[in-house]
Amino acid sequence: MIIKGNITRNLLLCSSYWMISRSTGARALIFVVGLEKIYAVSTARSKEASKQTKFQAVNDGRRGRLGCDGSVLIDSTKNNTAEKDAPPNQTLRGFGAIERIKRTIEHACPNTVSCADVLAIAARDSVVMSKGPNWPVWLGRRDGRVSIANETKQLPPPTANFTRLTQMFGAKGLSIKDLVVLSAGHTIGTSHCSAFSDRLYNFTGKVNLNDIDPLMDTQYISRMRTRCSLTDNTTLVEMDPGSFKTFDTSYYKFVAKGRGLFHSDASLLANSFTKDYVFKHANGFESEFYQDFADSMISMGNVGVLTGNQGEIRKKCYIINN
Ligand code: HEM
Ligand SMILES: *[C@@H]1O[C@H](CO)[C@@H](O)[C@H](O)[C@H]1NC(C)=O
Ligand SMILES: *[C@@H]1O[C@H](CO)[C@@H](O)[C@H](O)[C@H]1NC(C)=O
Ligand SMILES: *[C@@H]1O[C@H](CO)[C@@H](O)[C@H](O)[C@H]1NC(C)=O
Ligand SMILES: *[C@@H]1O[C@H](CO)[C@@H](O)[C@H](O)[C@H]1NC(C)=O
Ligand SMILES: *[C@@H]1O[C@H](CO)[C@@H](O)[C@H](O)[C@H]1NC(C)=O
Ligand SMILES: *[C@@H]1O[C@H](CO)[C@@H](O)[C@H](O)[C@H]1NC(C)=O
Repeated sequence: MIIKGNITRNLLLCSSYWMISRSTGARALIFVVGLEKIYAVSTARSKEASKQTKFQAVNDGRRGRLGCDGSVLIDSTKNNTAEKDAPPNQTLRGFGAIERIKRTIEHACPNTVSCADVLAIAARDSVVMSKGPNWPVWLGRRDGRVSIANETKQLPPPTANFTRLTQMFGAKGLSIKDLVVLSAGHTIGTSHCSAFSDRLYNFTGKVNLNDIDPLMDTQYISRMRTRCSLTDNTTLVEMDPGSFKTFDTSYYKFVAKGRGLFHSDASLLANSFTKDYVFKHANGFESEFYQDFADSMISMGNVGVLTGNQGEIRKKCYIINN
């Protein structure tokens, strides 16, 4: 559970906290981030103490998409009990969990670690935790002074076709290869029916059982219809059924068979480069994909980075500072 190499690097940024923890024997904080379940771990110097480490899992689904942020909770101080037990807040899904980490860090090491860095680390650690690749996360990003709420407009919708996806990725300096590689982030996690139910019932706005997305395998359409009605906006469906908690290449197997959940996933078959990539990695080449994913995540983590005096270190991730 404990990912040593990364932790030190993360905590180095916050060395005062690290030093205090060690000298008092108090526990040090560690980021450990899962995708569905978020674990918080505390280290202690004795094995006995680490056995007593409490793992707290939170179902706190929603992540931002293009930022590929993870959902996290740090739970290593007794002081945080009340926060972690708070019920998942629909309006703050994902952001709420990031906020809890941020609050803990802010307490230990004020005005130092940006929300952008927390997200970048969380995204990386969540992939590592689910058995995916690892990559270095360079820290020192600063937060924009733009409210998070409208940043979601820059995210591609699940209905996007290949042209739209490449435009949106291109606008962020990301390539077609980044698109096909990063889309495999959908090897993890769940989606609400509402993100794809149009493909099952209402693809062109006609609302009938023949109005389906031709890019989806018909057997899969039948199966998904048993899970989702057209108007269901609460049910969650695994995006990579059977291994939705494990980072692997099975996303590509599904897409290759016309079983990508979103139209955007299916659109990867609409271009020869991305299609070839999907088919190649549906049949192995896992280590190549892992390396590609690490590279593309580093690229995505460098999109629109603010440094120096730009922006700010937000005190709370969901509000810009006054
Ligand atoms: C290519 C454009 C993308 C589109 C259109 C897209 C769309 C979506 C949608 C609609 C959901 C479901 C949200 C919900 O209903 O709760 C989702 C979930 C998710 N996406 Fe993407 N996404 C894209 C790219 C990415 C990238 C680049 C990553 C990371 C590398 C990613 C990782 C995830 C993860 C982990 C989830 C699951 C969240 C959860 O379990 O709650 N996606 N995406
Ligand atoms: C936890 O709370 C106690 C007392 O309320 C305080 O003395 C201690 O410094 C706090 N520790 C942390 C890590 O917040
Ligand atoms: C969720 O959080 C928001 C913002 O803090 C708050 O206004 C709202 O009442 C919360 N909702 C629930 C159900 O706790
Ligand atoms: C979000 O809102 C801010 C402030 O109102 C504005 O400057 C910014 O351009 C908006 N961003 C998007 C993507 O709409
Ligand atoms: C792709 O989607 C855009 C709108 O997002 C639309 O204007 C365009 O016609 C679509 N392209 C194809 C080939 O369907
Ligand atoms: C069906 O699709 C049309 C066009 O996209 C949309 O306006 C309408 O709201 C959809 N109907 C339902 C019930 O979702
Ligand atoms: C989900 O659908 C119900 C009924 O159609 C509606 O009242 C509710 O506002 C919707 N919730 C969201 C988050 O869209």
